[in-house]
Amino acid sequence: MGITYLEQKKIFKLDTPNTTYLMEIVDAEGFLGHIYYGRRLEDAEGAEELLRTLEGPFTPETNSRDRSSFMDCFPWEYSSHGVGDFRESSVRVKDENGCSAVMLTYLSHEIYEGKRPLEGLPATFGKQDQVQTLEITCEDKCLGLRAVLSYSVFEDTDAIARSVRFENAGRQVLSLEKAMSCCLDMDNRNFDAITLHGSWARERRIERKPIGHGRFSVSTLRGETSHQEHCFLALAAPGANQDQGEVYGFHLVYSGNFLIQAEVNQFDSVRVVAGINPEDFCWRLGGGESFQTPEVILTYSAQGIGGMTNSLHKLYRNHLIRSPYLHKKRPILINNWEATYFDFDEKKLLDIAKESAALGIEMLVMDDGWFGNRYDDNRALGDWKVNEKKLKGGLGRLVEQVNALGMKFGIWFEPEMISEESALYRQHPDWALAVPGRKPTLSRNQYVLDISRREVRDCIMEQVFAVLHSANIEYVKWDMNRPLTDLGSAALPADRQGELYHRYVLGMYEMQERLVKEFPDLLLENCSGGGGRFDPGMLYYSPQIWCSDDTDAVERLAIQESTAMLYPLSAMGAHVSVCPNHTVGRNTPFETRGYVALAGTFGYELDITKLDEEDRAMVPRQTAMYHRFHDLVREGEYYRLSSWQENGSFDCFQVNGPDGKECLVFYTQVLNEPAKKSRIVRLKGLDAGARYRIRVVSMEGGDLIKDTGREASGEVLMYGGFRLERLWGDFRSRIFCLERI
Ligand code: GLA
Repeated sequence: MGITYLEQKKIFKLDTPNTTYLMEIVDAEGFLGHIYYGRRLEDAEGAEELLRTLEGPFTPETNSRDRSSFMDCFPWEYSSHGVGDFRESSVRVKDENGCSAVMLTYLSHEIYEGKRPLEGLPATFGKQDQVQTLEITCEDKCLGLRAVLSYSVFEDTDAIARSVRFENAGRQVLSLEKAMSCCLDMDNRNFDAITLHGSWARERRIERKPIGHGRFSVSTLRGETSHQEHCFLALAAPGANQDQGEVYGFHLVYSGNFLIQAEVNQFDSVRVVAGINPEDFCWRLGGGESFQTPEVILTYSAQGIGGMTNSLHKLYRNHLIRSPYLHKKRPILINNWEATYFDFDEKKLLDIAKESAALGIEMLVMDDGWFGNRYDDNRALGDWKVNEKKLKGGLGRLVEQVNALGMKFGIWFEPEMISEESALYRQHPDWALAVPGRKPTLSRNQYVLDISRREVRDCIMEQVFAVLHSANIEYVKWDMNRPLTDLGSAALPADRQGELYHRYVLGMYEMQERLVKEFPDLLLENCSGGGGRFDPGMLYYSPQIWCSDDTDAVERLAIQESTAMLYPLSAMGAHVSVCPNHTVGRNTPFETRGYVALAGTFGYELDITKLDEEDRAMVPRQTAMYHRFHDLVREGEYYRLSSWQENGSFDCFQVNGPDGKECLVFYTQVLNEPAKKSRIVRLKGLDAGARYRIRVVSMEGGDLIKDTGREASGEVLMYGGFRLERLWGDFRSRIFCLERI
């Protein structure tokens, strides 16, 4: 690990275990140029030639006549605006004259052990011996603006965290109209863009396509990360696949409007910028004030997409998720949403709890509908008082009874929202986001609370805390069921309305921070109409996020594959639900639903009192399976072996236990086809010199894990392959457990 400054050459060298990142300060003016990001270089001698400063148009020091040509081709570490670089800018600032040019050049730098937190924002962290940080201060003398470019490198994973802090060192008021978290210039290698796109109940599908000249971007203006696009872009060299080839990943640690853009220009170089979406963003920066951008994670892998996945999983597990549940068993929960929707009372819940406890389920989660007069989704958001007509005897009594069954209790909130029909709205109509004179747009018949306002956050959190202190509640599902529209805050002056989107996100982070500080042992699960706010920012507060409202096992194969490309399996909320599935009407075997949910946090979301005998009989085996494998799935290393999204036929991935003794191979056949042979997949990460006993998880009687009588060497399994029999029927699934002998 390490960051070095090669004084003579004015080169910064950042090393992670397998990658190197190089920048150089050029010219008397102090232009900061990007030299290299890729495979680790022990010796960077000669790398400065890659900056092309020895060929025309030359640096301004040598040839100021063609300054503009230099501006438009130099690989900037953080691009300027309005002074000759016509590619995408990283920053745009309006000064008091109404002009908006910015040009940042090197002023000073500092290298230190560890990593400072980012004020008000989620961010990766590490101890002094785990992470090192370089802060390069650049300035625009004309504006009196400073930008501190921050780079943190980790000793245990190939990731670099970048962010920028702006400081107004002058007296005039500056309007920050664009403040990206990073910029990366490099030669284009005919890259493909890999992104995740989707919709409600169809979140995060992998898409790959070549990028050409011009601009390619992913973004959102919904105020949350969104179901539609994800705050992630990878650039993959042609032919790069799971195991081979070069892949650059960019993943933003932010939960609001974002933009990640790749631009290929006239000289065939590519520029990536990533950060807060500049549209509808404008931050007023008075003299002496500062602004912190969110951070973006950069990864480089020479081992294909799988290498990137591995680096991100390590980073998020070791340096982002803070929850006490990170390395702890998550209780097997049963959520009543798909079981009852709004139609429940304490008796129904207790019936579910009794049956669940008897079958090995460990926690009851009471979803939407327990508060105010919330009999449907048209009312009561904002009135976080228990509805004692529904829950006779109150919440305390219900929780006691659930606890007496040996089960924990969890509860649902949607703290950022307000219904028109609520006591809160009647009292504070100006607390909803709204543009003066314009009736705000309803979505799910609700408005968005203006949580940029302290008094709004206080009022909601006081209510939430009162509920949580009133009973032994050990889990919270924090939901957010609509995007932001009608951006207007009754509390902000006209010249600060452009701050509202970001202030909203900061407000939400502050509320979550308060929650986890007040209840340090709480298990928090974030959610947004399913997986509409599944991003690294939210992982800083909750170790798991509800992946999607679509609980169909087949749909989940794709959603979970794509999500697991970036996030550890332990972050993905996954439940077994009933069939026909409530979202797509599909029937899949109960067994398959259990295996698919095991690849996430594992729980149930169904009326267990109505399960047929055969399915009910399987629940204790499924819960036993979770008890047997939860730590392997949570702590293990994940490998994608084959993708149903690509092959249209079956899904297969592997999780290797941290001690190397055991690994699981998850195999799901989506559709069976006649007259085809078995499938052979190559396993990964095994001990080539060892032998493995091949066993299979069984939902039938007898042992949970049964011997198949097969054995194979690590070499055969990795270089030859592992044979997967075709299964009789559609949507059939198996989990193999390979034990090192
Ligand atoms: C969202 C969530 C669901 C459920 C409902 C309740 O859609 O994703 O799981 O909690 O809200 O209204």
